[in-house]
Amino acid sequence: MPEPILELAGLTKVFPGGFKALDNVDLTINRGEIFALLGPNGAGKTTLIGAVCGLVRPTSGTIRAFGQDTKSDWRQARARIGLVPQELSTDMFEPVLHAVEYSRGLFGLAPDPARIEEILRSLSLWDKRNNRIMELSGGMKRRVLIAKAMAHEPDLLFLDEPTAGVDVELRKDMWHQIDAMRARGVTVILTTHYIEEAEEMADRVGIIRGGKILMVDQKDAMMARLGRTEAHVMLAQPLDTLPPAIAAFPVELKEGGRSLCYRGGDGTGKGREEVAELTKALIASGIDYVGIDVRESSLEDIFVSLLGDEEEQAA
Ligand SMILES: Nc1ncnc2c1ncn2[C@@H]1O[C@H](COP(=O)(O)OP(=O)(O)O)[C@@H](O)[C@H]1O
Ligand SMILES: [Mg+2]
Repeated sequence: MPEPILELAGLTKVFPGGFKALDNVDLTINRGEIFALLGPNGAGKTTLIGAVCGLVRPTSGTIRAFGQDTKSDWRQARARIGLVPQELSTDMFEPVLHAVEYSRGLFGLAPDPARIEEILRSLSLWDKRNNRIMELSGGMKRRVLIAKAMAHEPDLLFLDEPTAGVDVELRKDMWHQIDAMRARGVTVILTTHYIEEAEEMADRVGIIRGGKILMVDQKDAMMARLGRTEAHVMLAQPLDTLPPAIAAFPVELKEGGRSLCYRGGDGTGKGREEVAELTKALIASGIDYVGIDVRESSLEDIFVSLLGDEEEQAA
């Protein structure tokens, strides 16, 4: 049974001046999952994290963390939450070890050198423990932020755009670290505007835009439900018209009749099977082909079409 670790209900934030950054957000995160909050810049991702971490005061709605309403005592919940902020905001002059020990102390935990060593080792920072943060590479600085967020042994970890502006290699390294976090039993909520990241990392994805959650689902289910298949069949001889047996498929002639374009399987996950049926029908109809290109739509296509629909609705 999934055990809710964070429950947002009707969460709304209107900033002074009237801007609604969160609009009636309902969201439940379960223990042990990696959840990606995917949305463009300005969608409200950082505001949502801020509300849960006590940095942004909600206008209305409730936040339950670890089964308790955070209104009465958000500090207690905050002590079990780690936050890796979007901005590199840490004292650059501090040696790594001090910075991480300090973060632990902030939450009133007793010093635990063995634990801190373990965290630093797991992030390959142990050898750099006496270096000032400013002396480290960009990737290592980001790992220091993770170490600081992990120092008080949180059960729930927020990573706000952990790989924004980071090169591909560092991004992979970060993904690896996030996986290691999960292995330790930490529930991870990451925000990203990289679809690739949500696709690679997350068990479940929530798409947010304009402060509204547009959709939440298991990543695989989302892709199966909203995915579609596209196939391009390069014909041996150009065609003017399609025989009825072929026209019965969701196909169109393209490139002056030299190729046949199939678009189907919407939300059924059965597009590939239908393409196989199509090729058999082509052969049965005496239509020869020289090549086939098949592609399944990705989370990216889903994201783009979802946001496109939103824009149309807003217009
Ligand atoms: N303190 C604030 N006062 C007014 N507007 C804000 C404030 N913080 C954020 N916003 C606005 O709220 C929206 C959502 O911001 P944010 O949560 O940072 O988005 P994201 O993290 O998804 O990029 C943006 O339009 C931003 O300009
Ligand atoms: Mg943000």
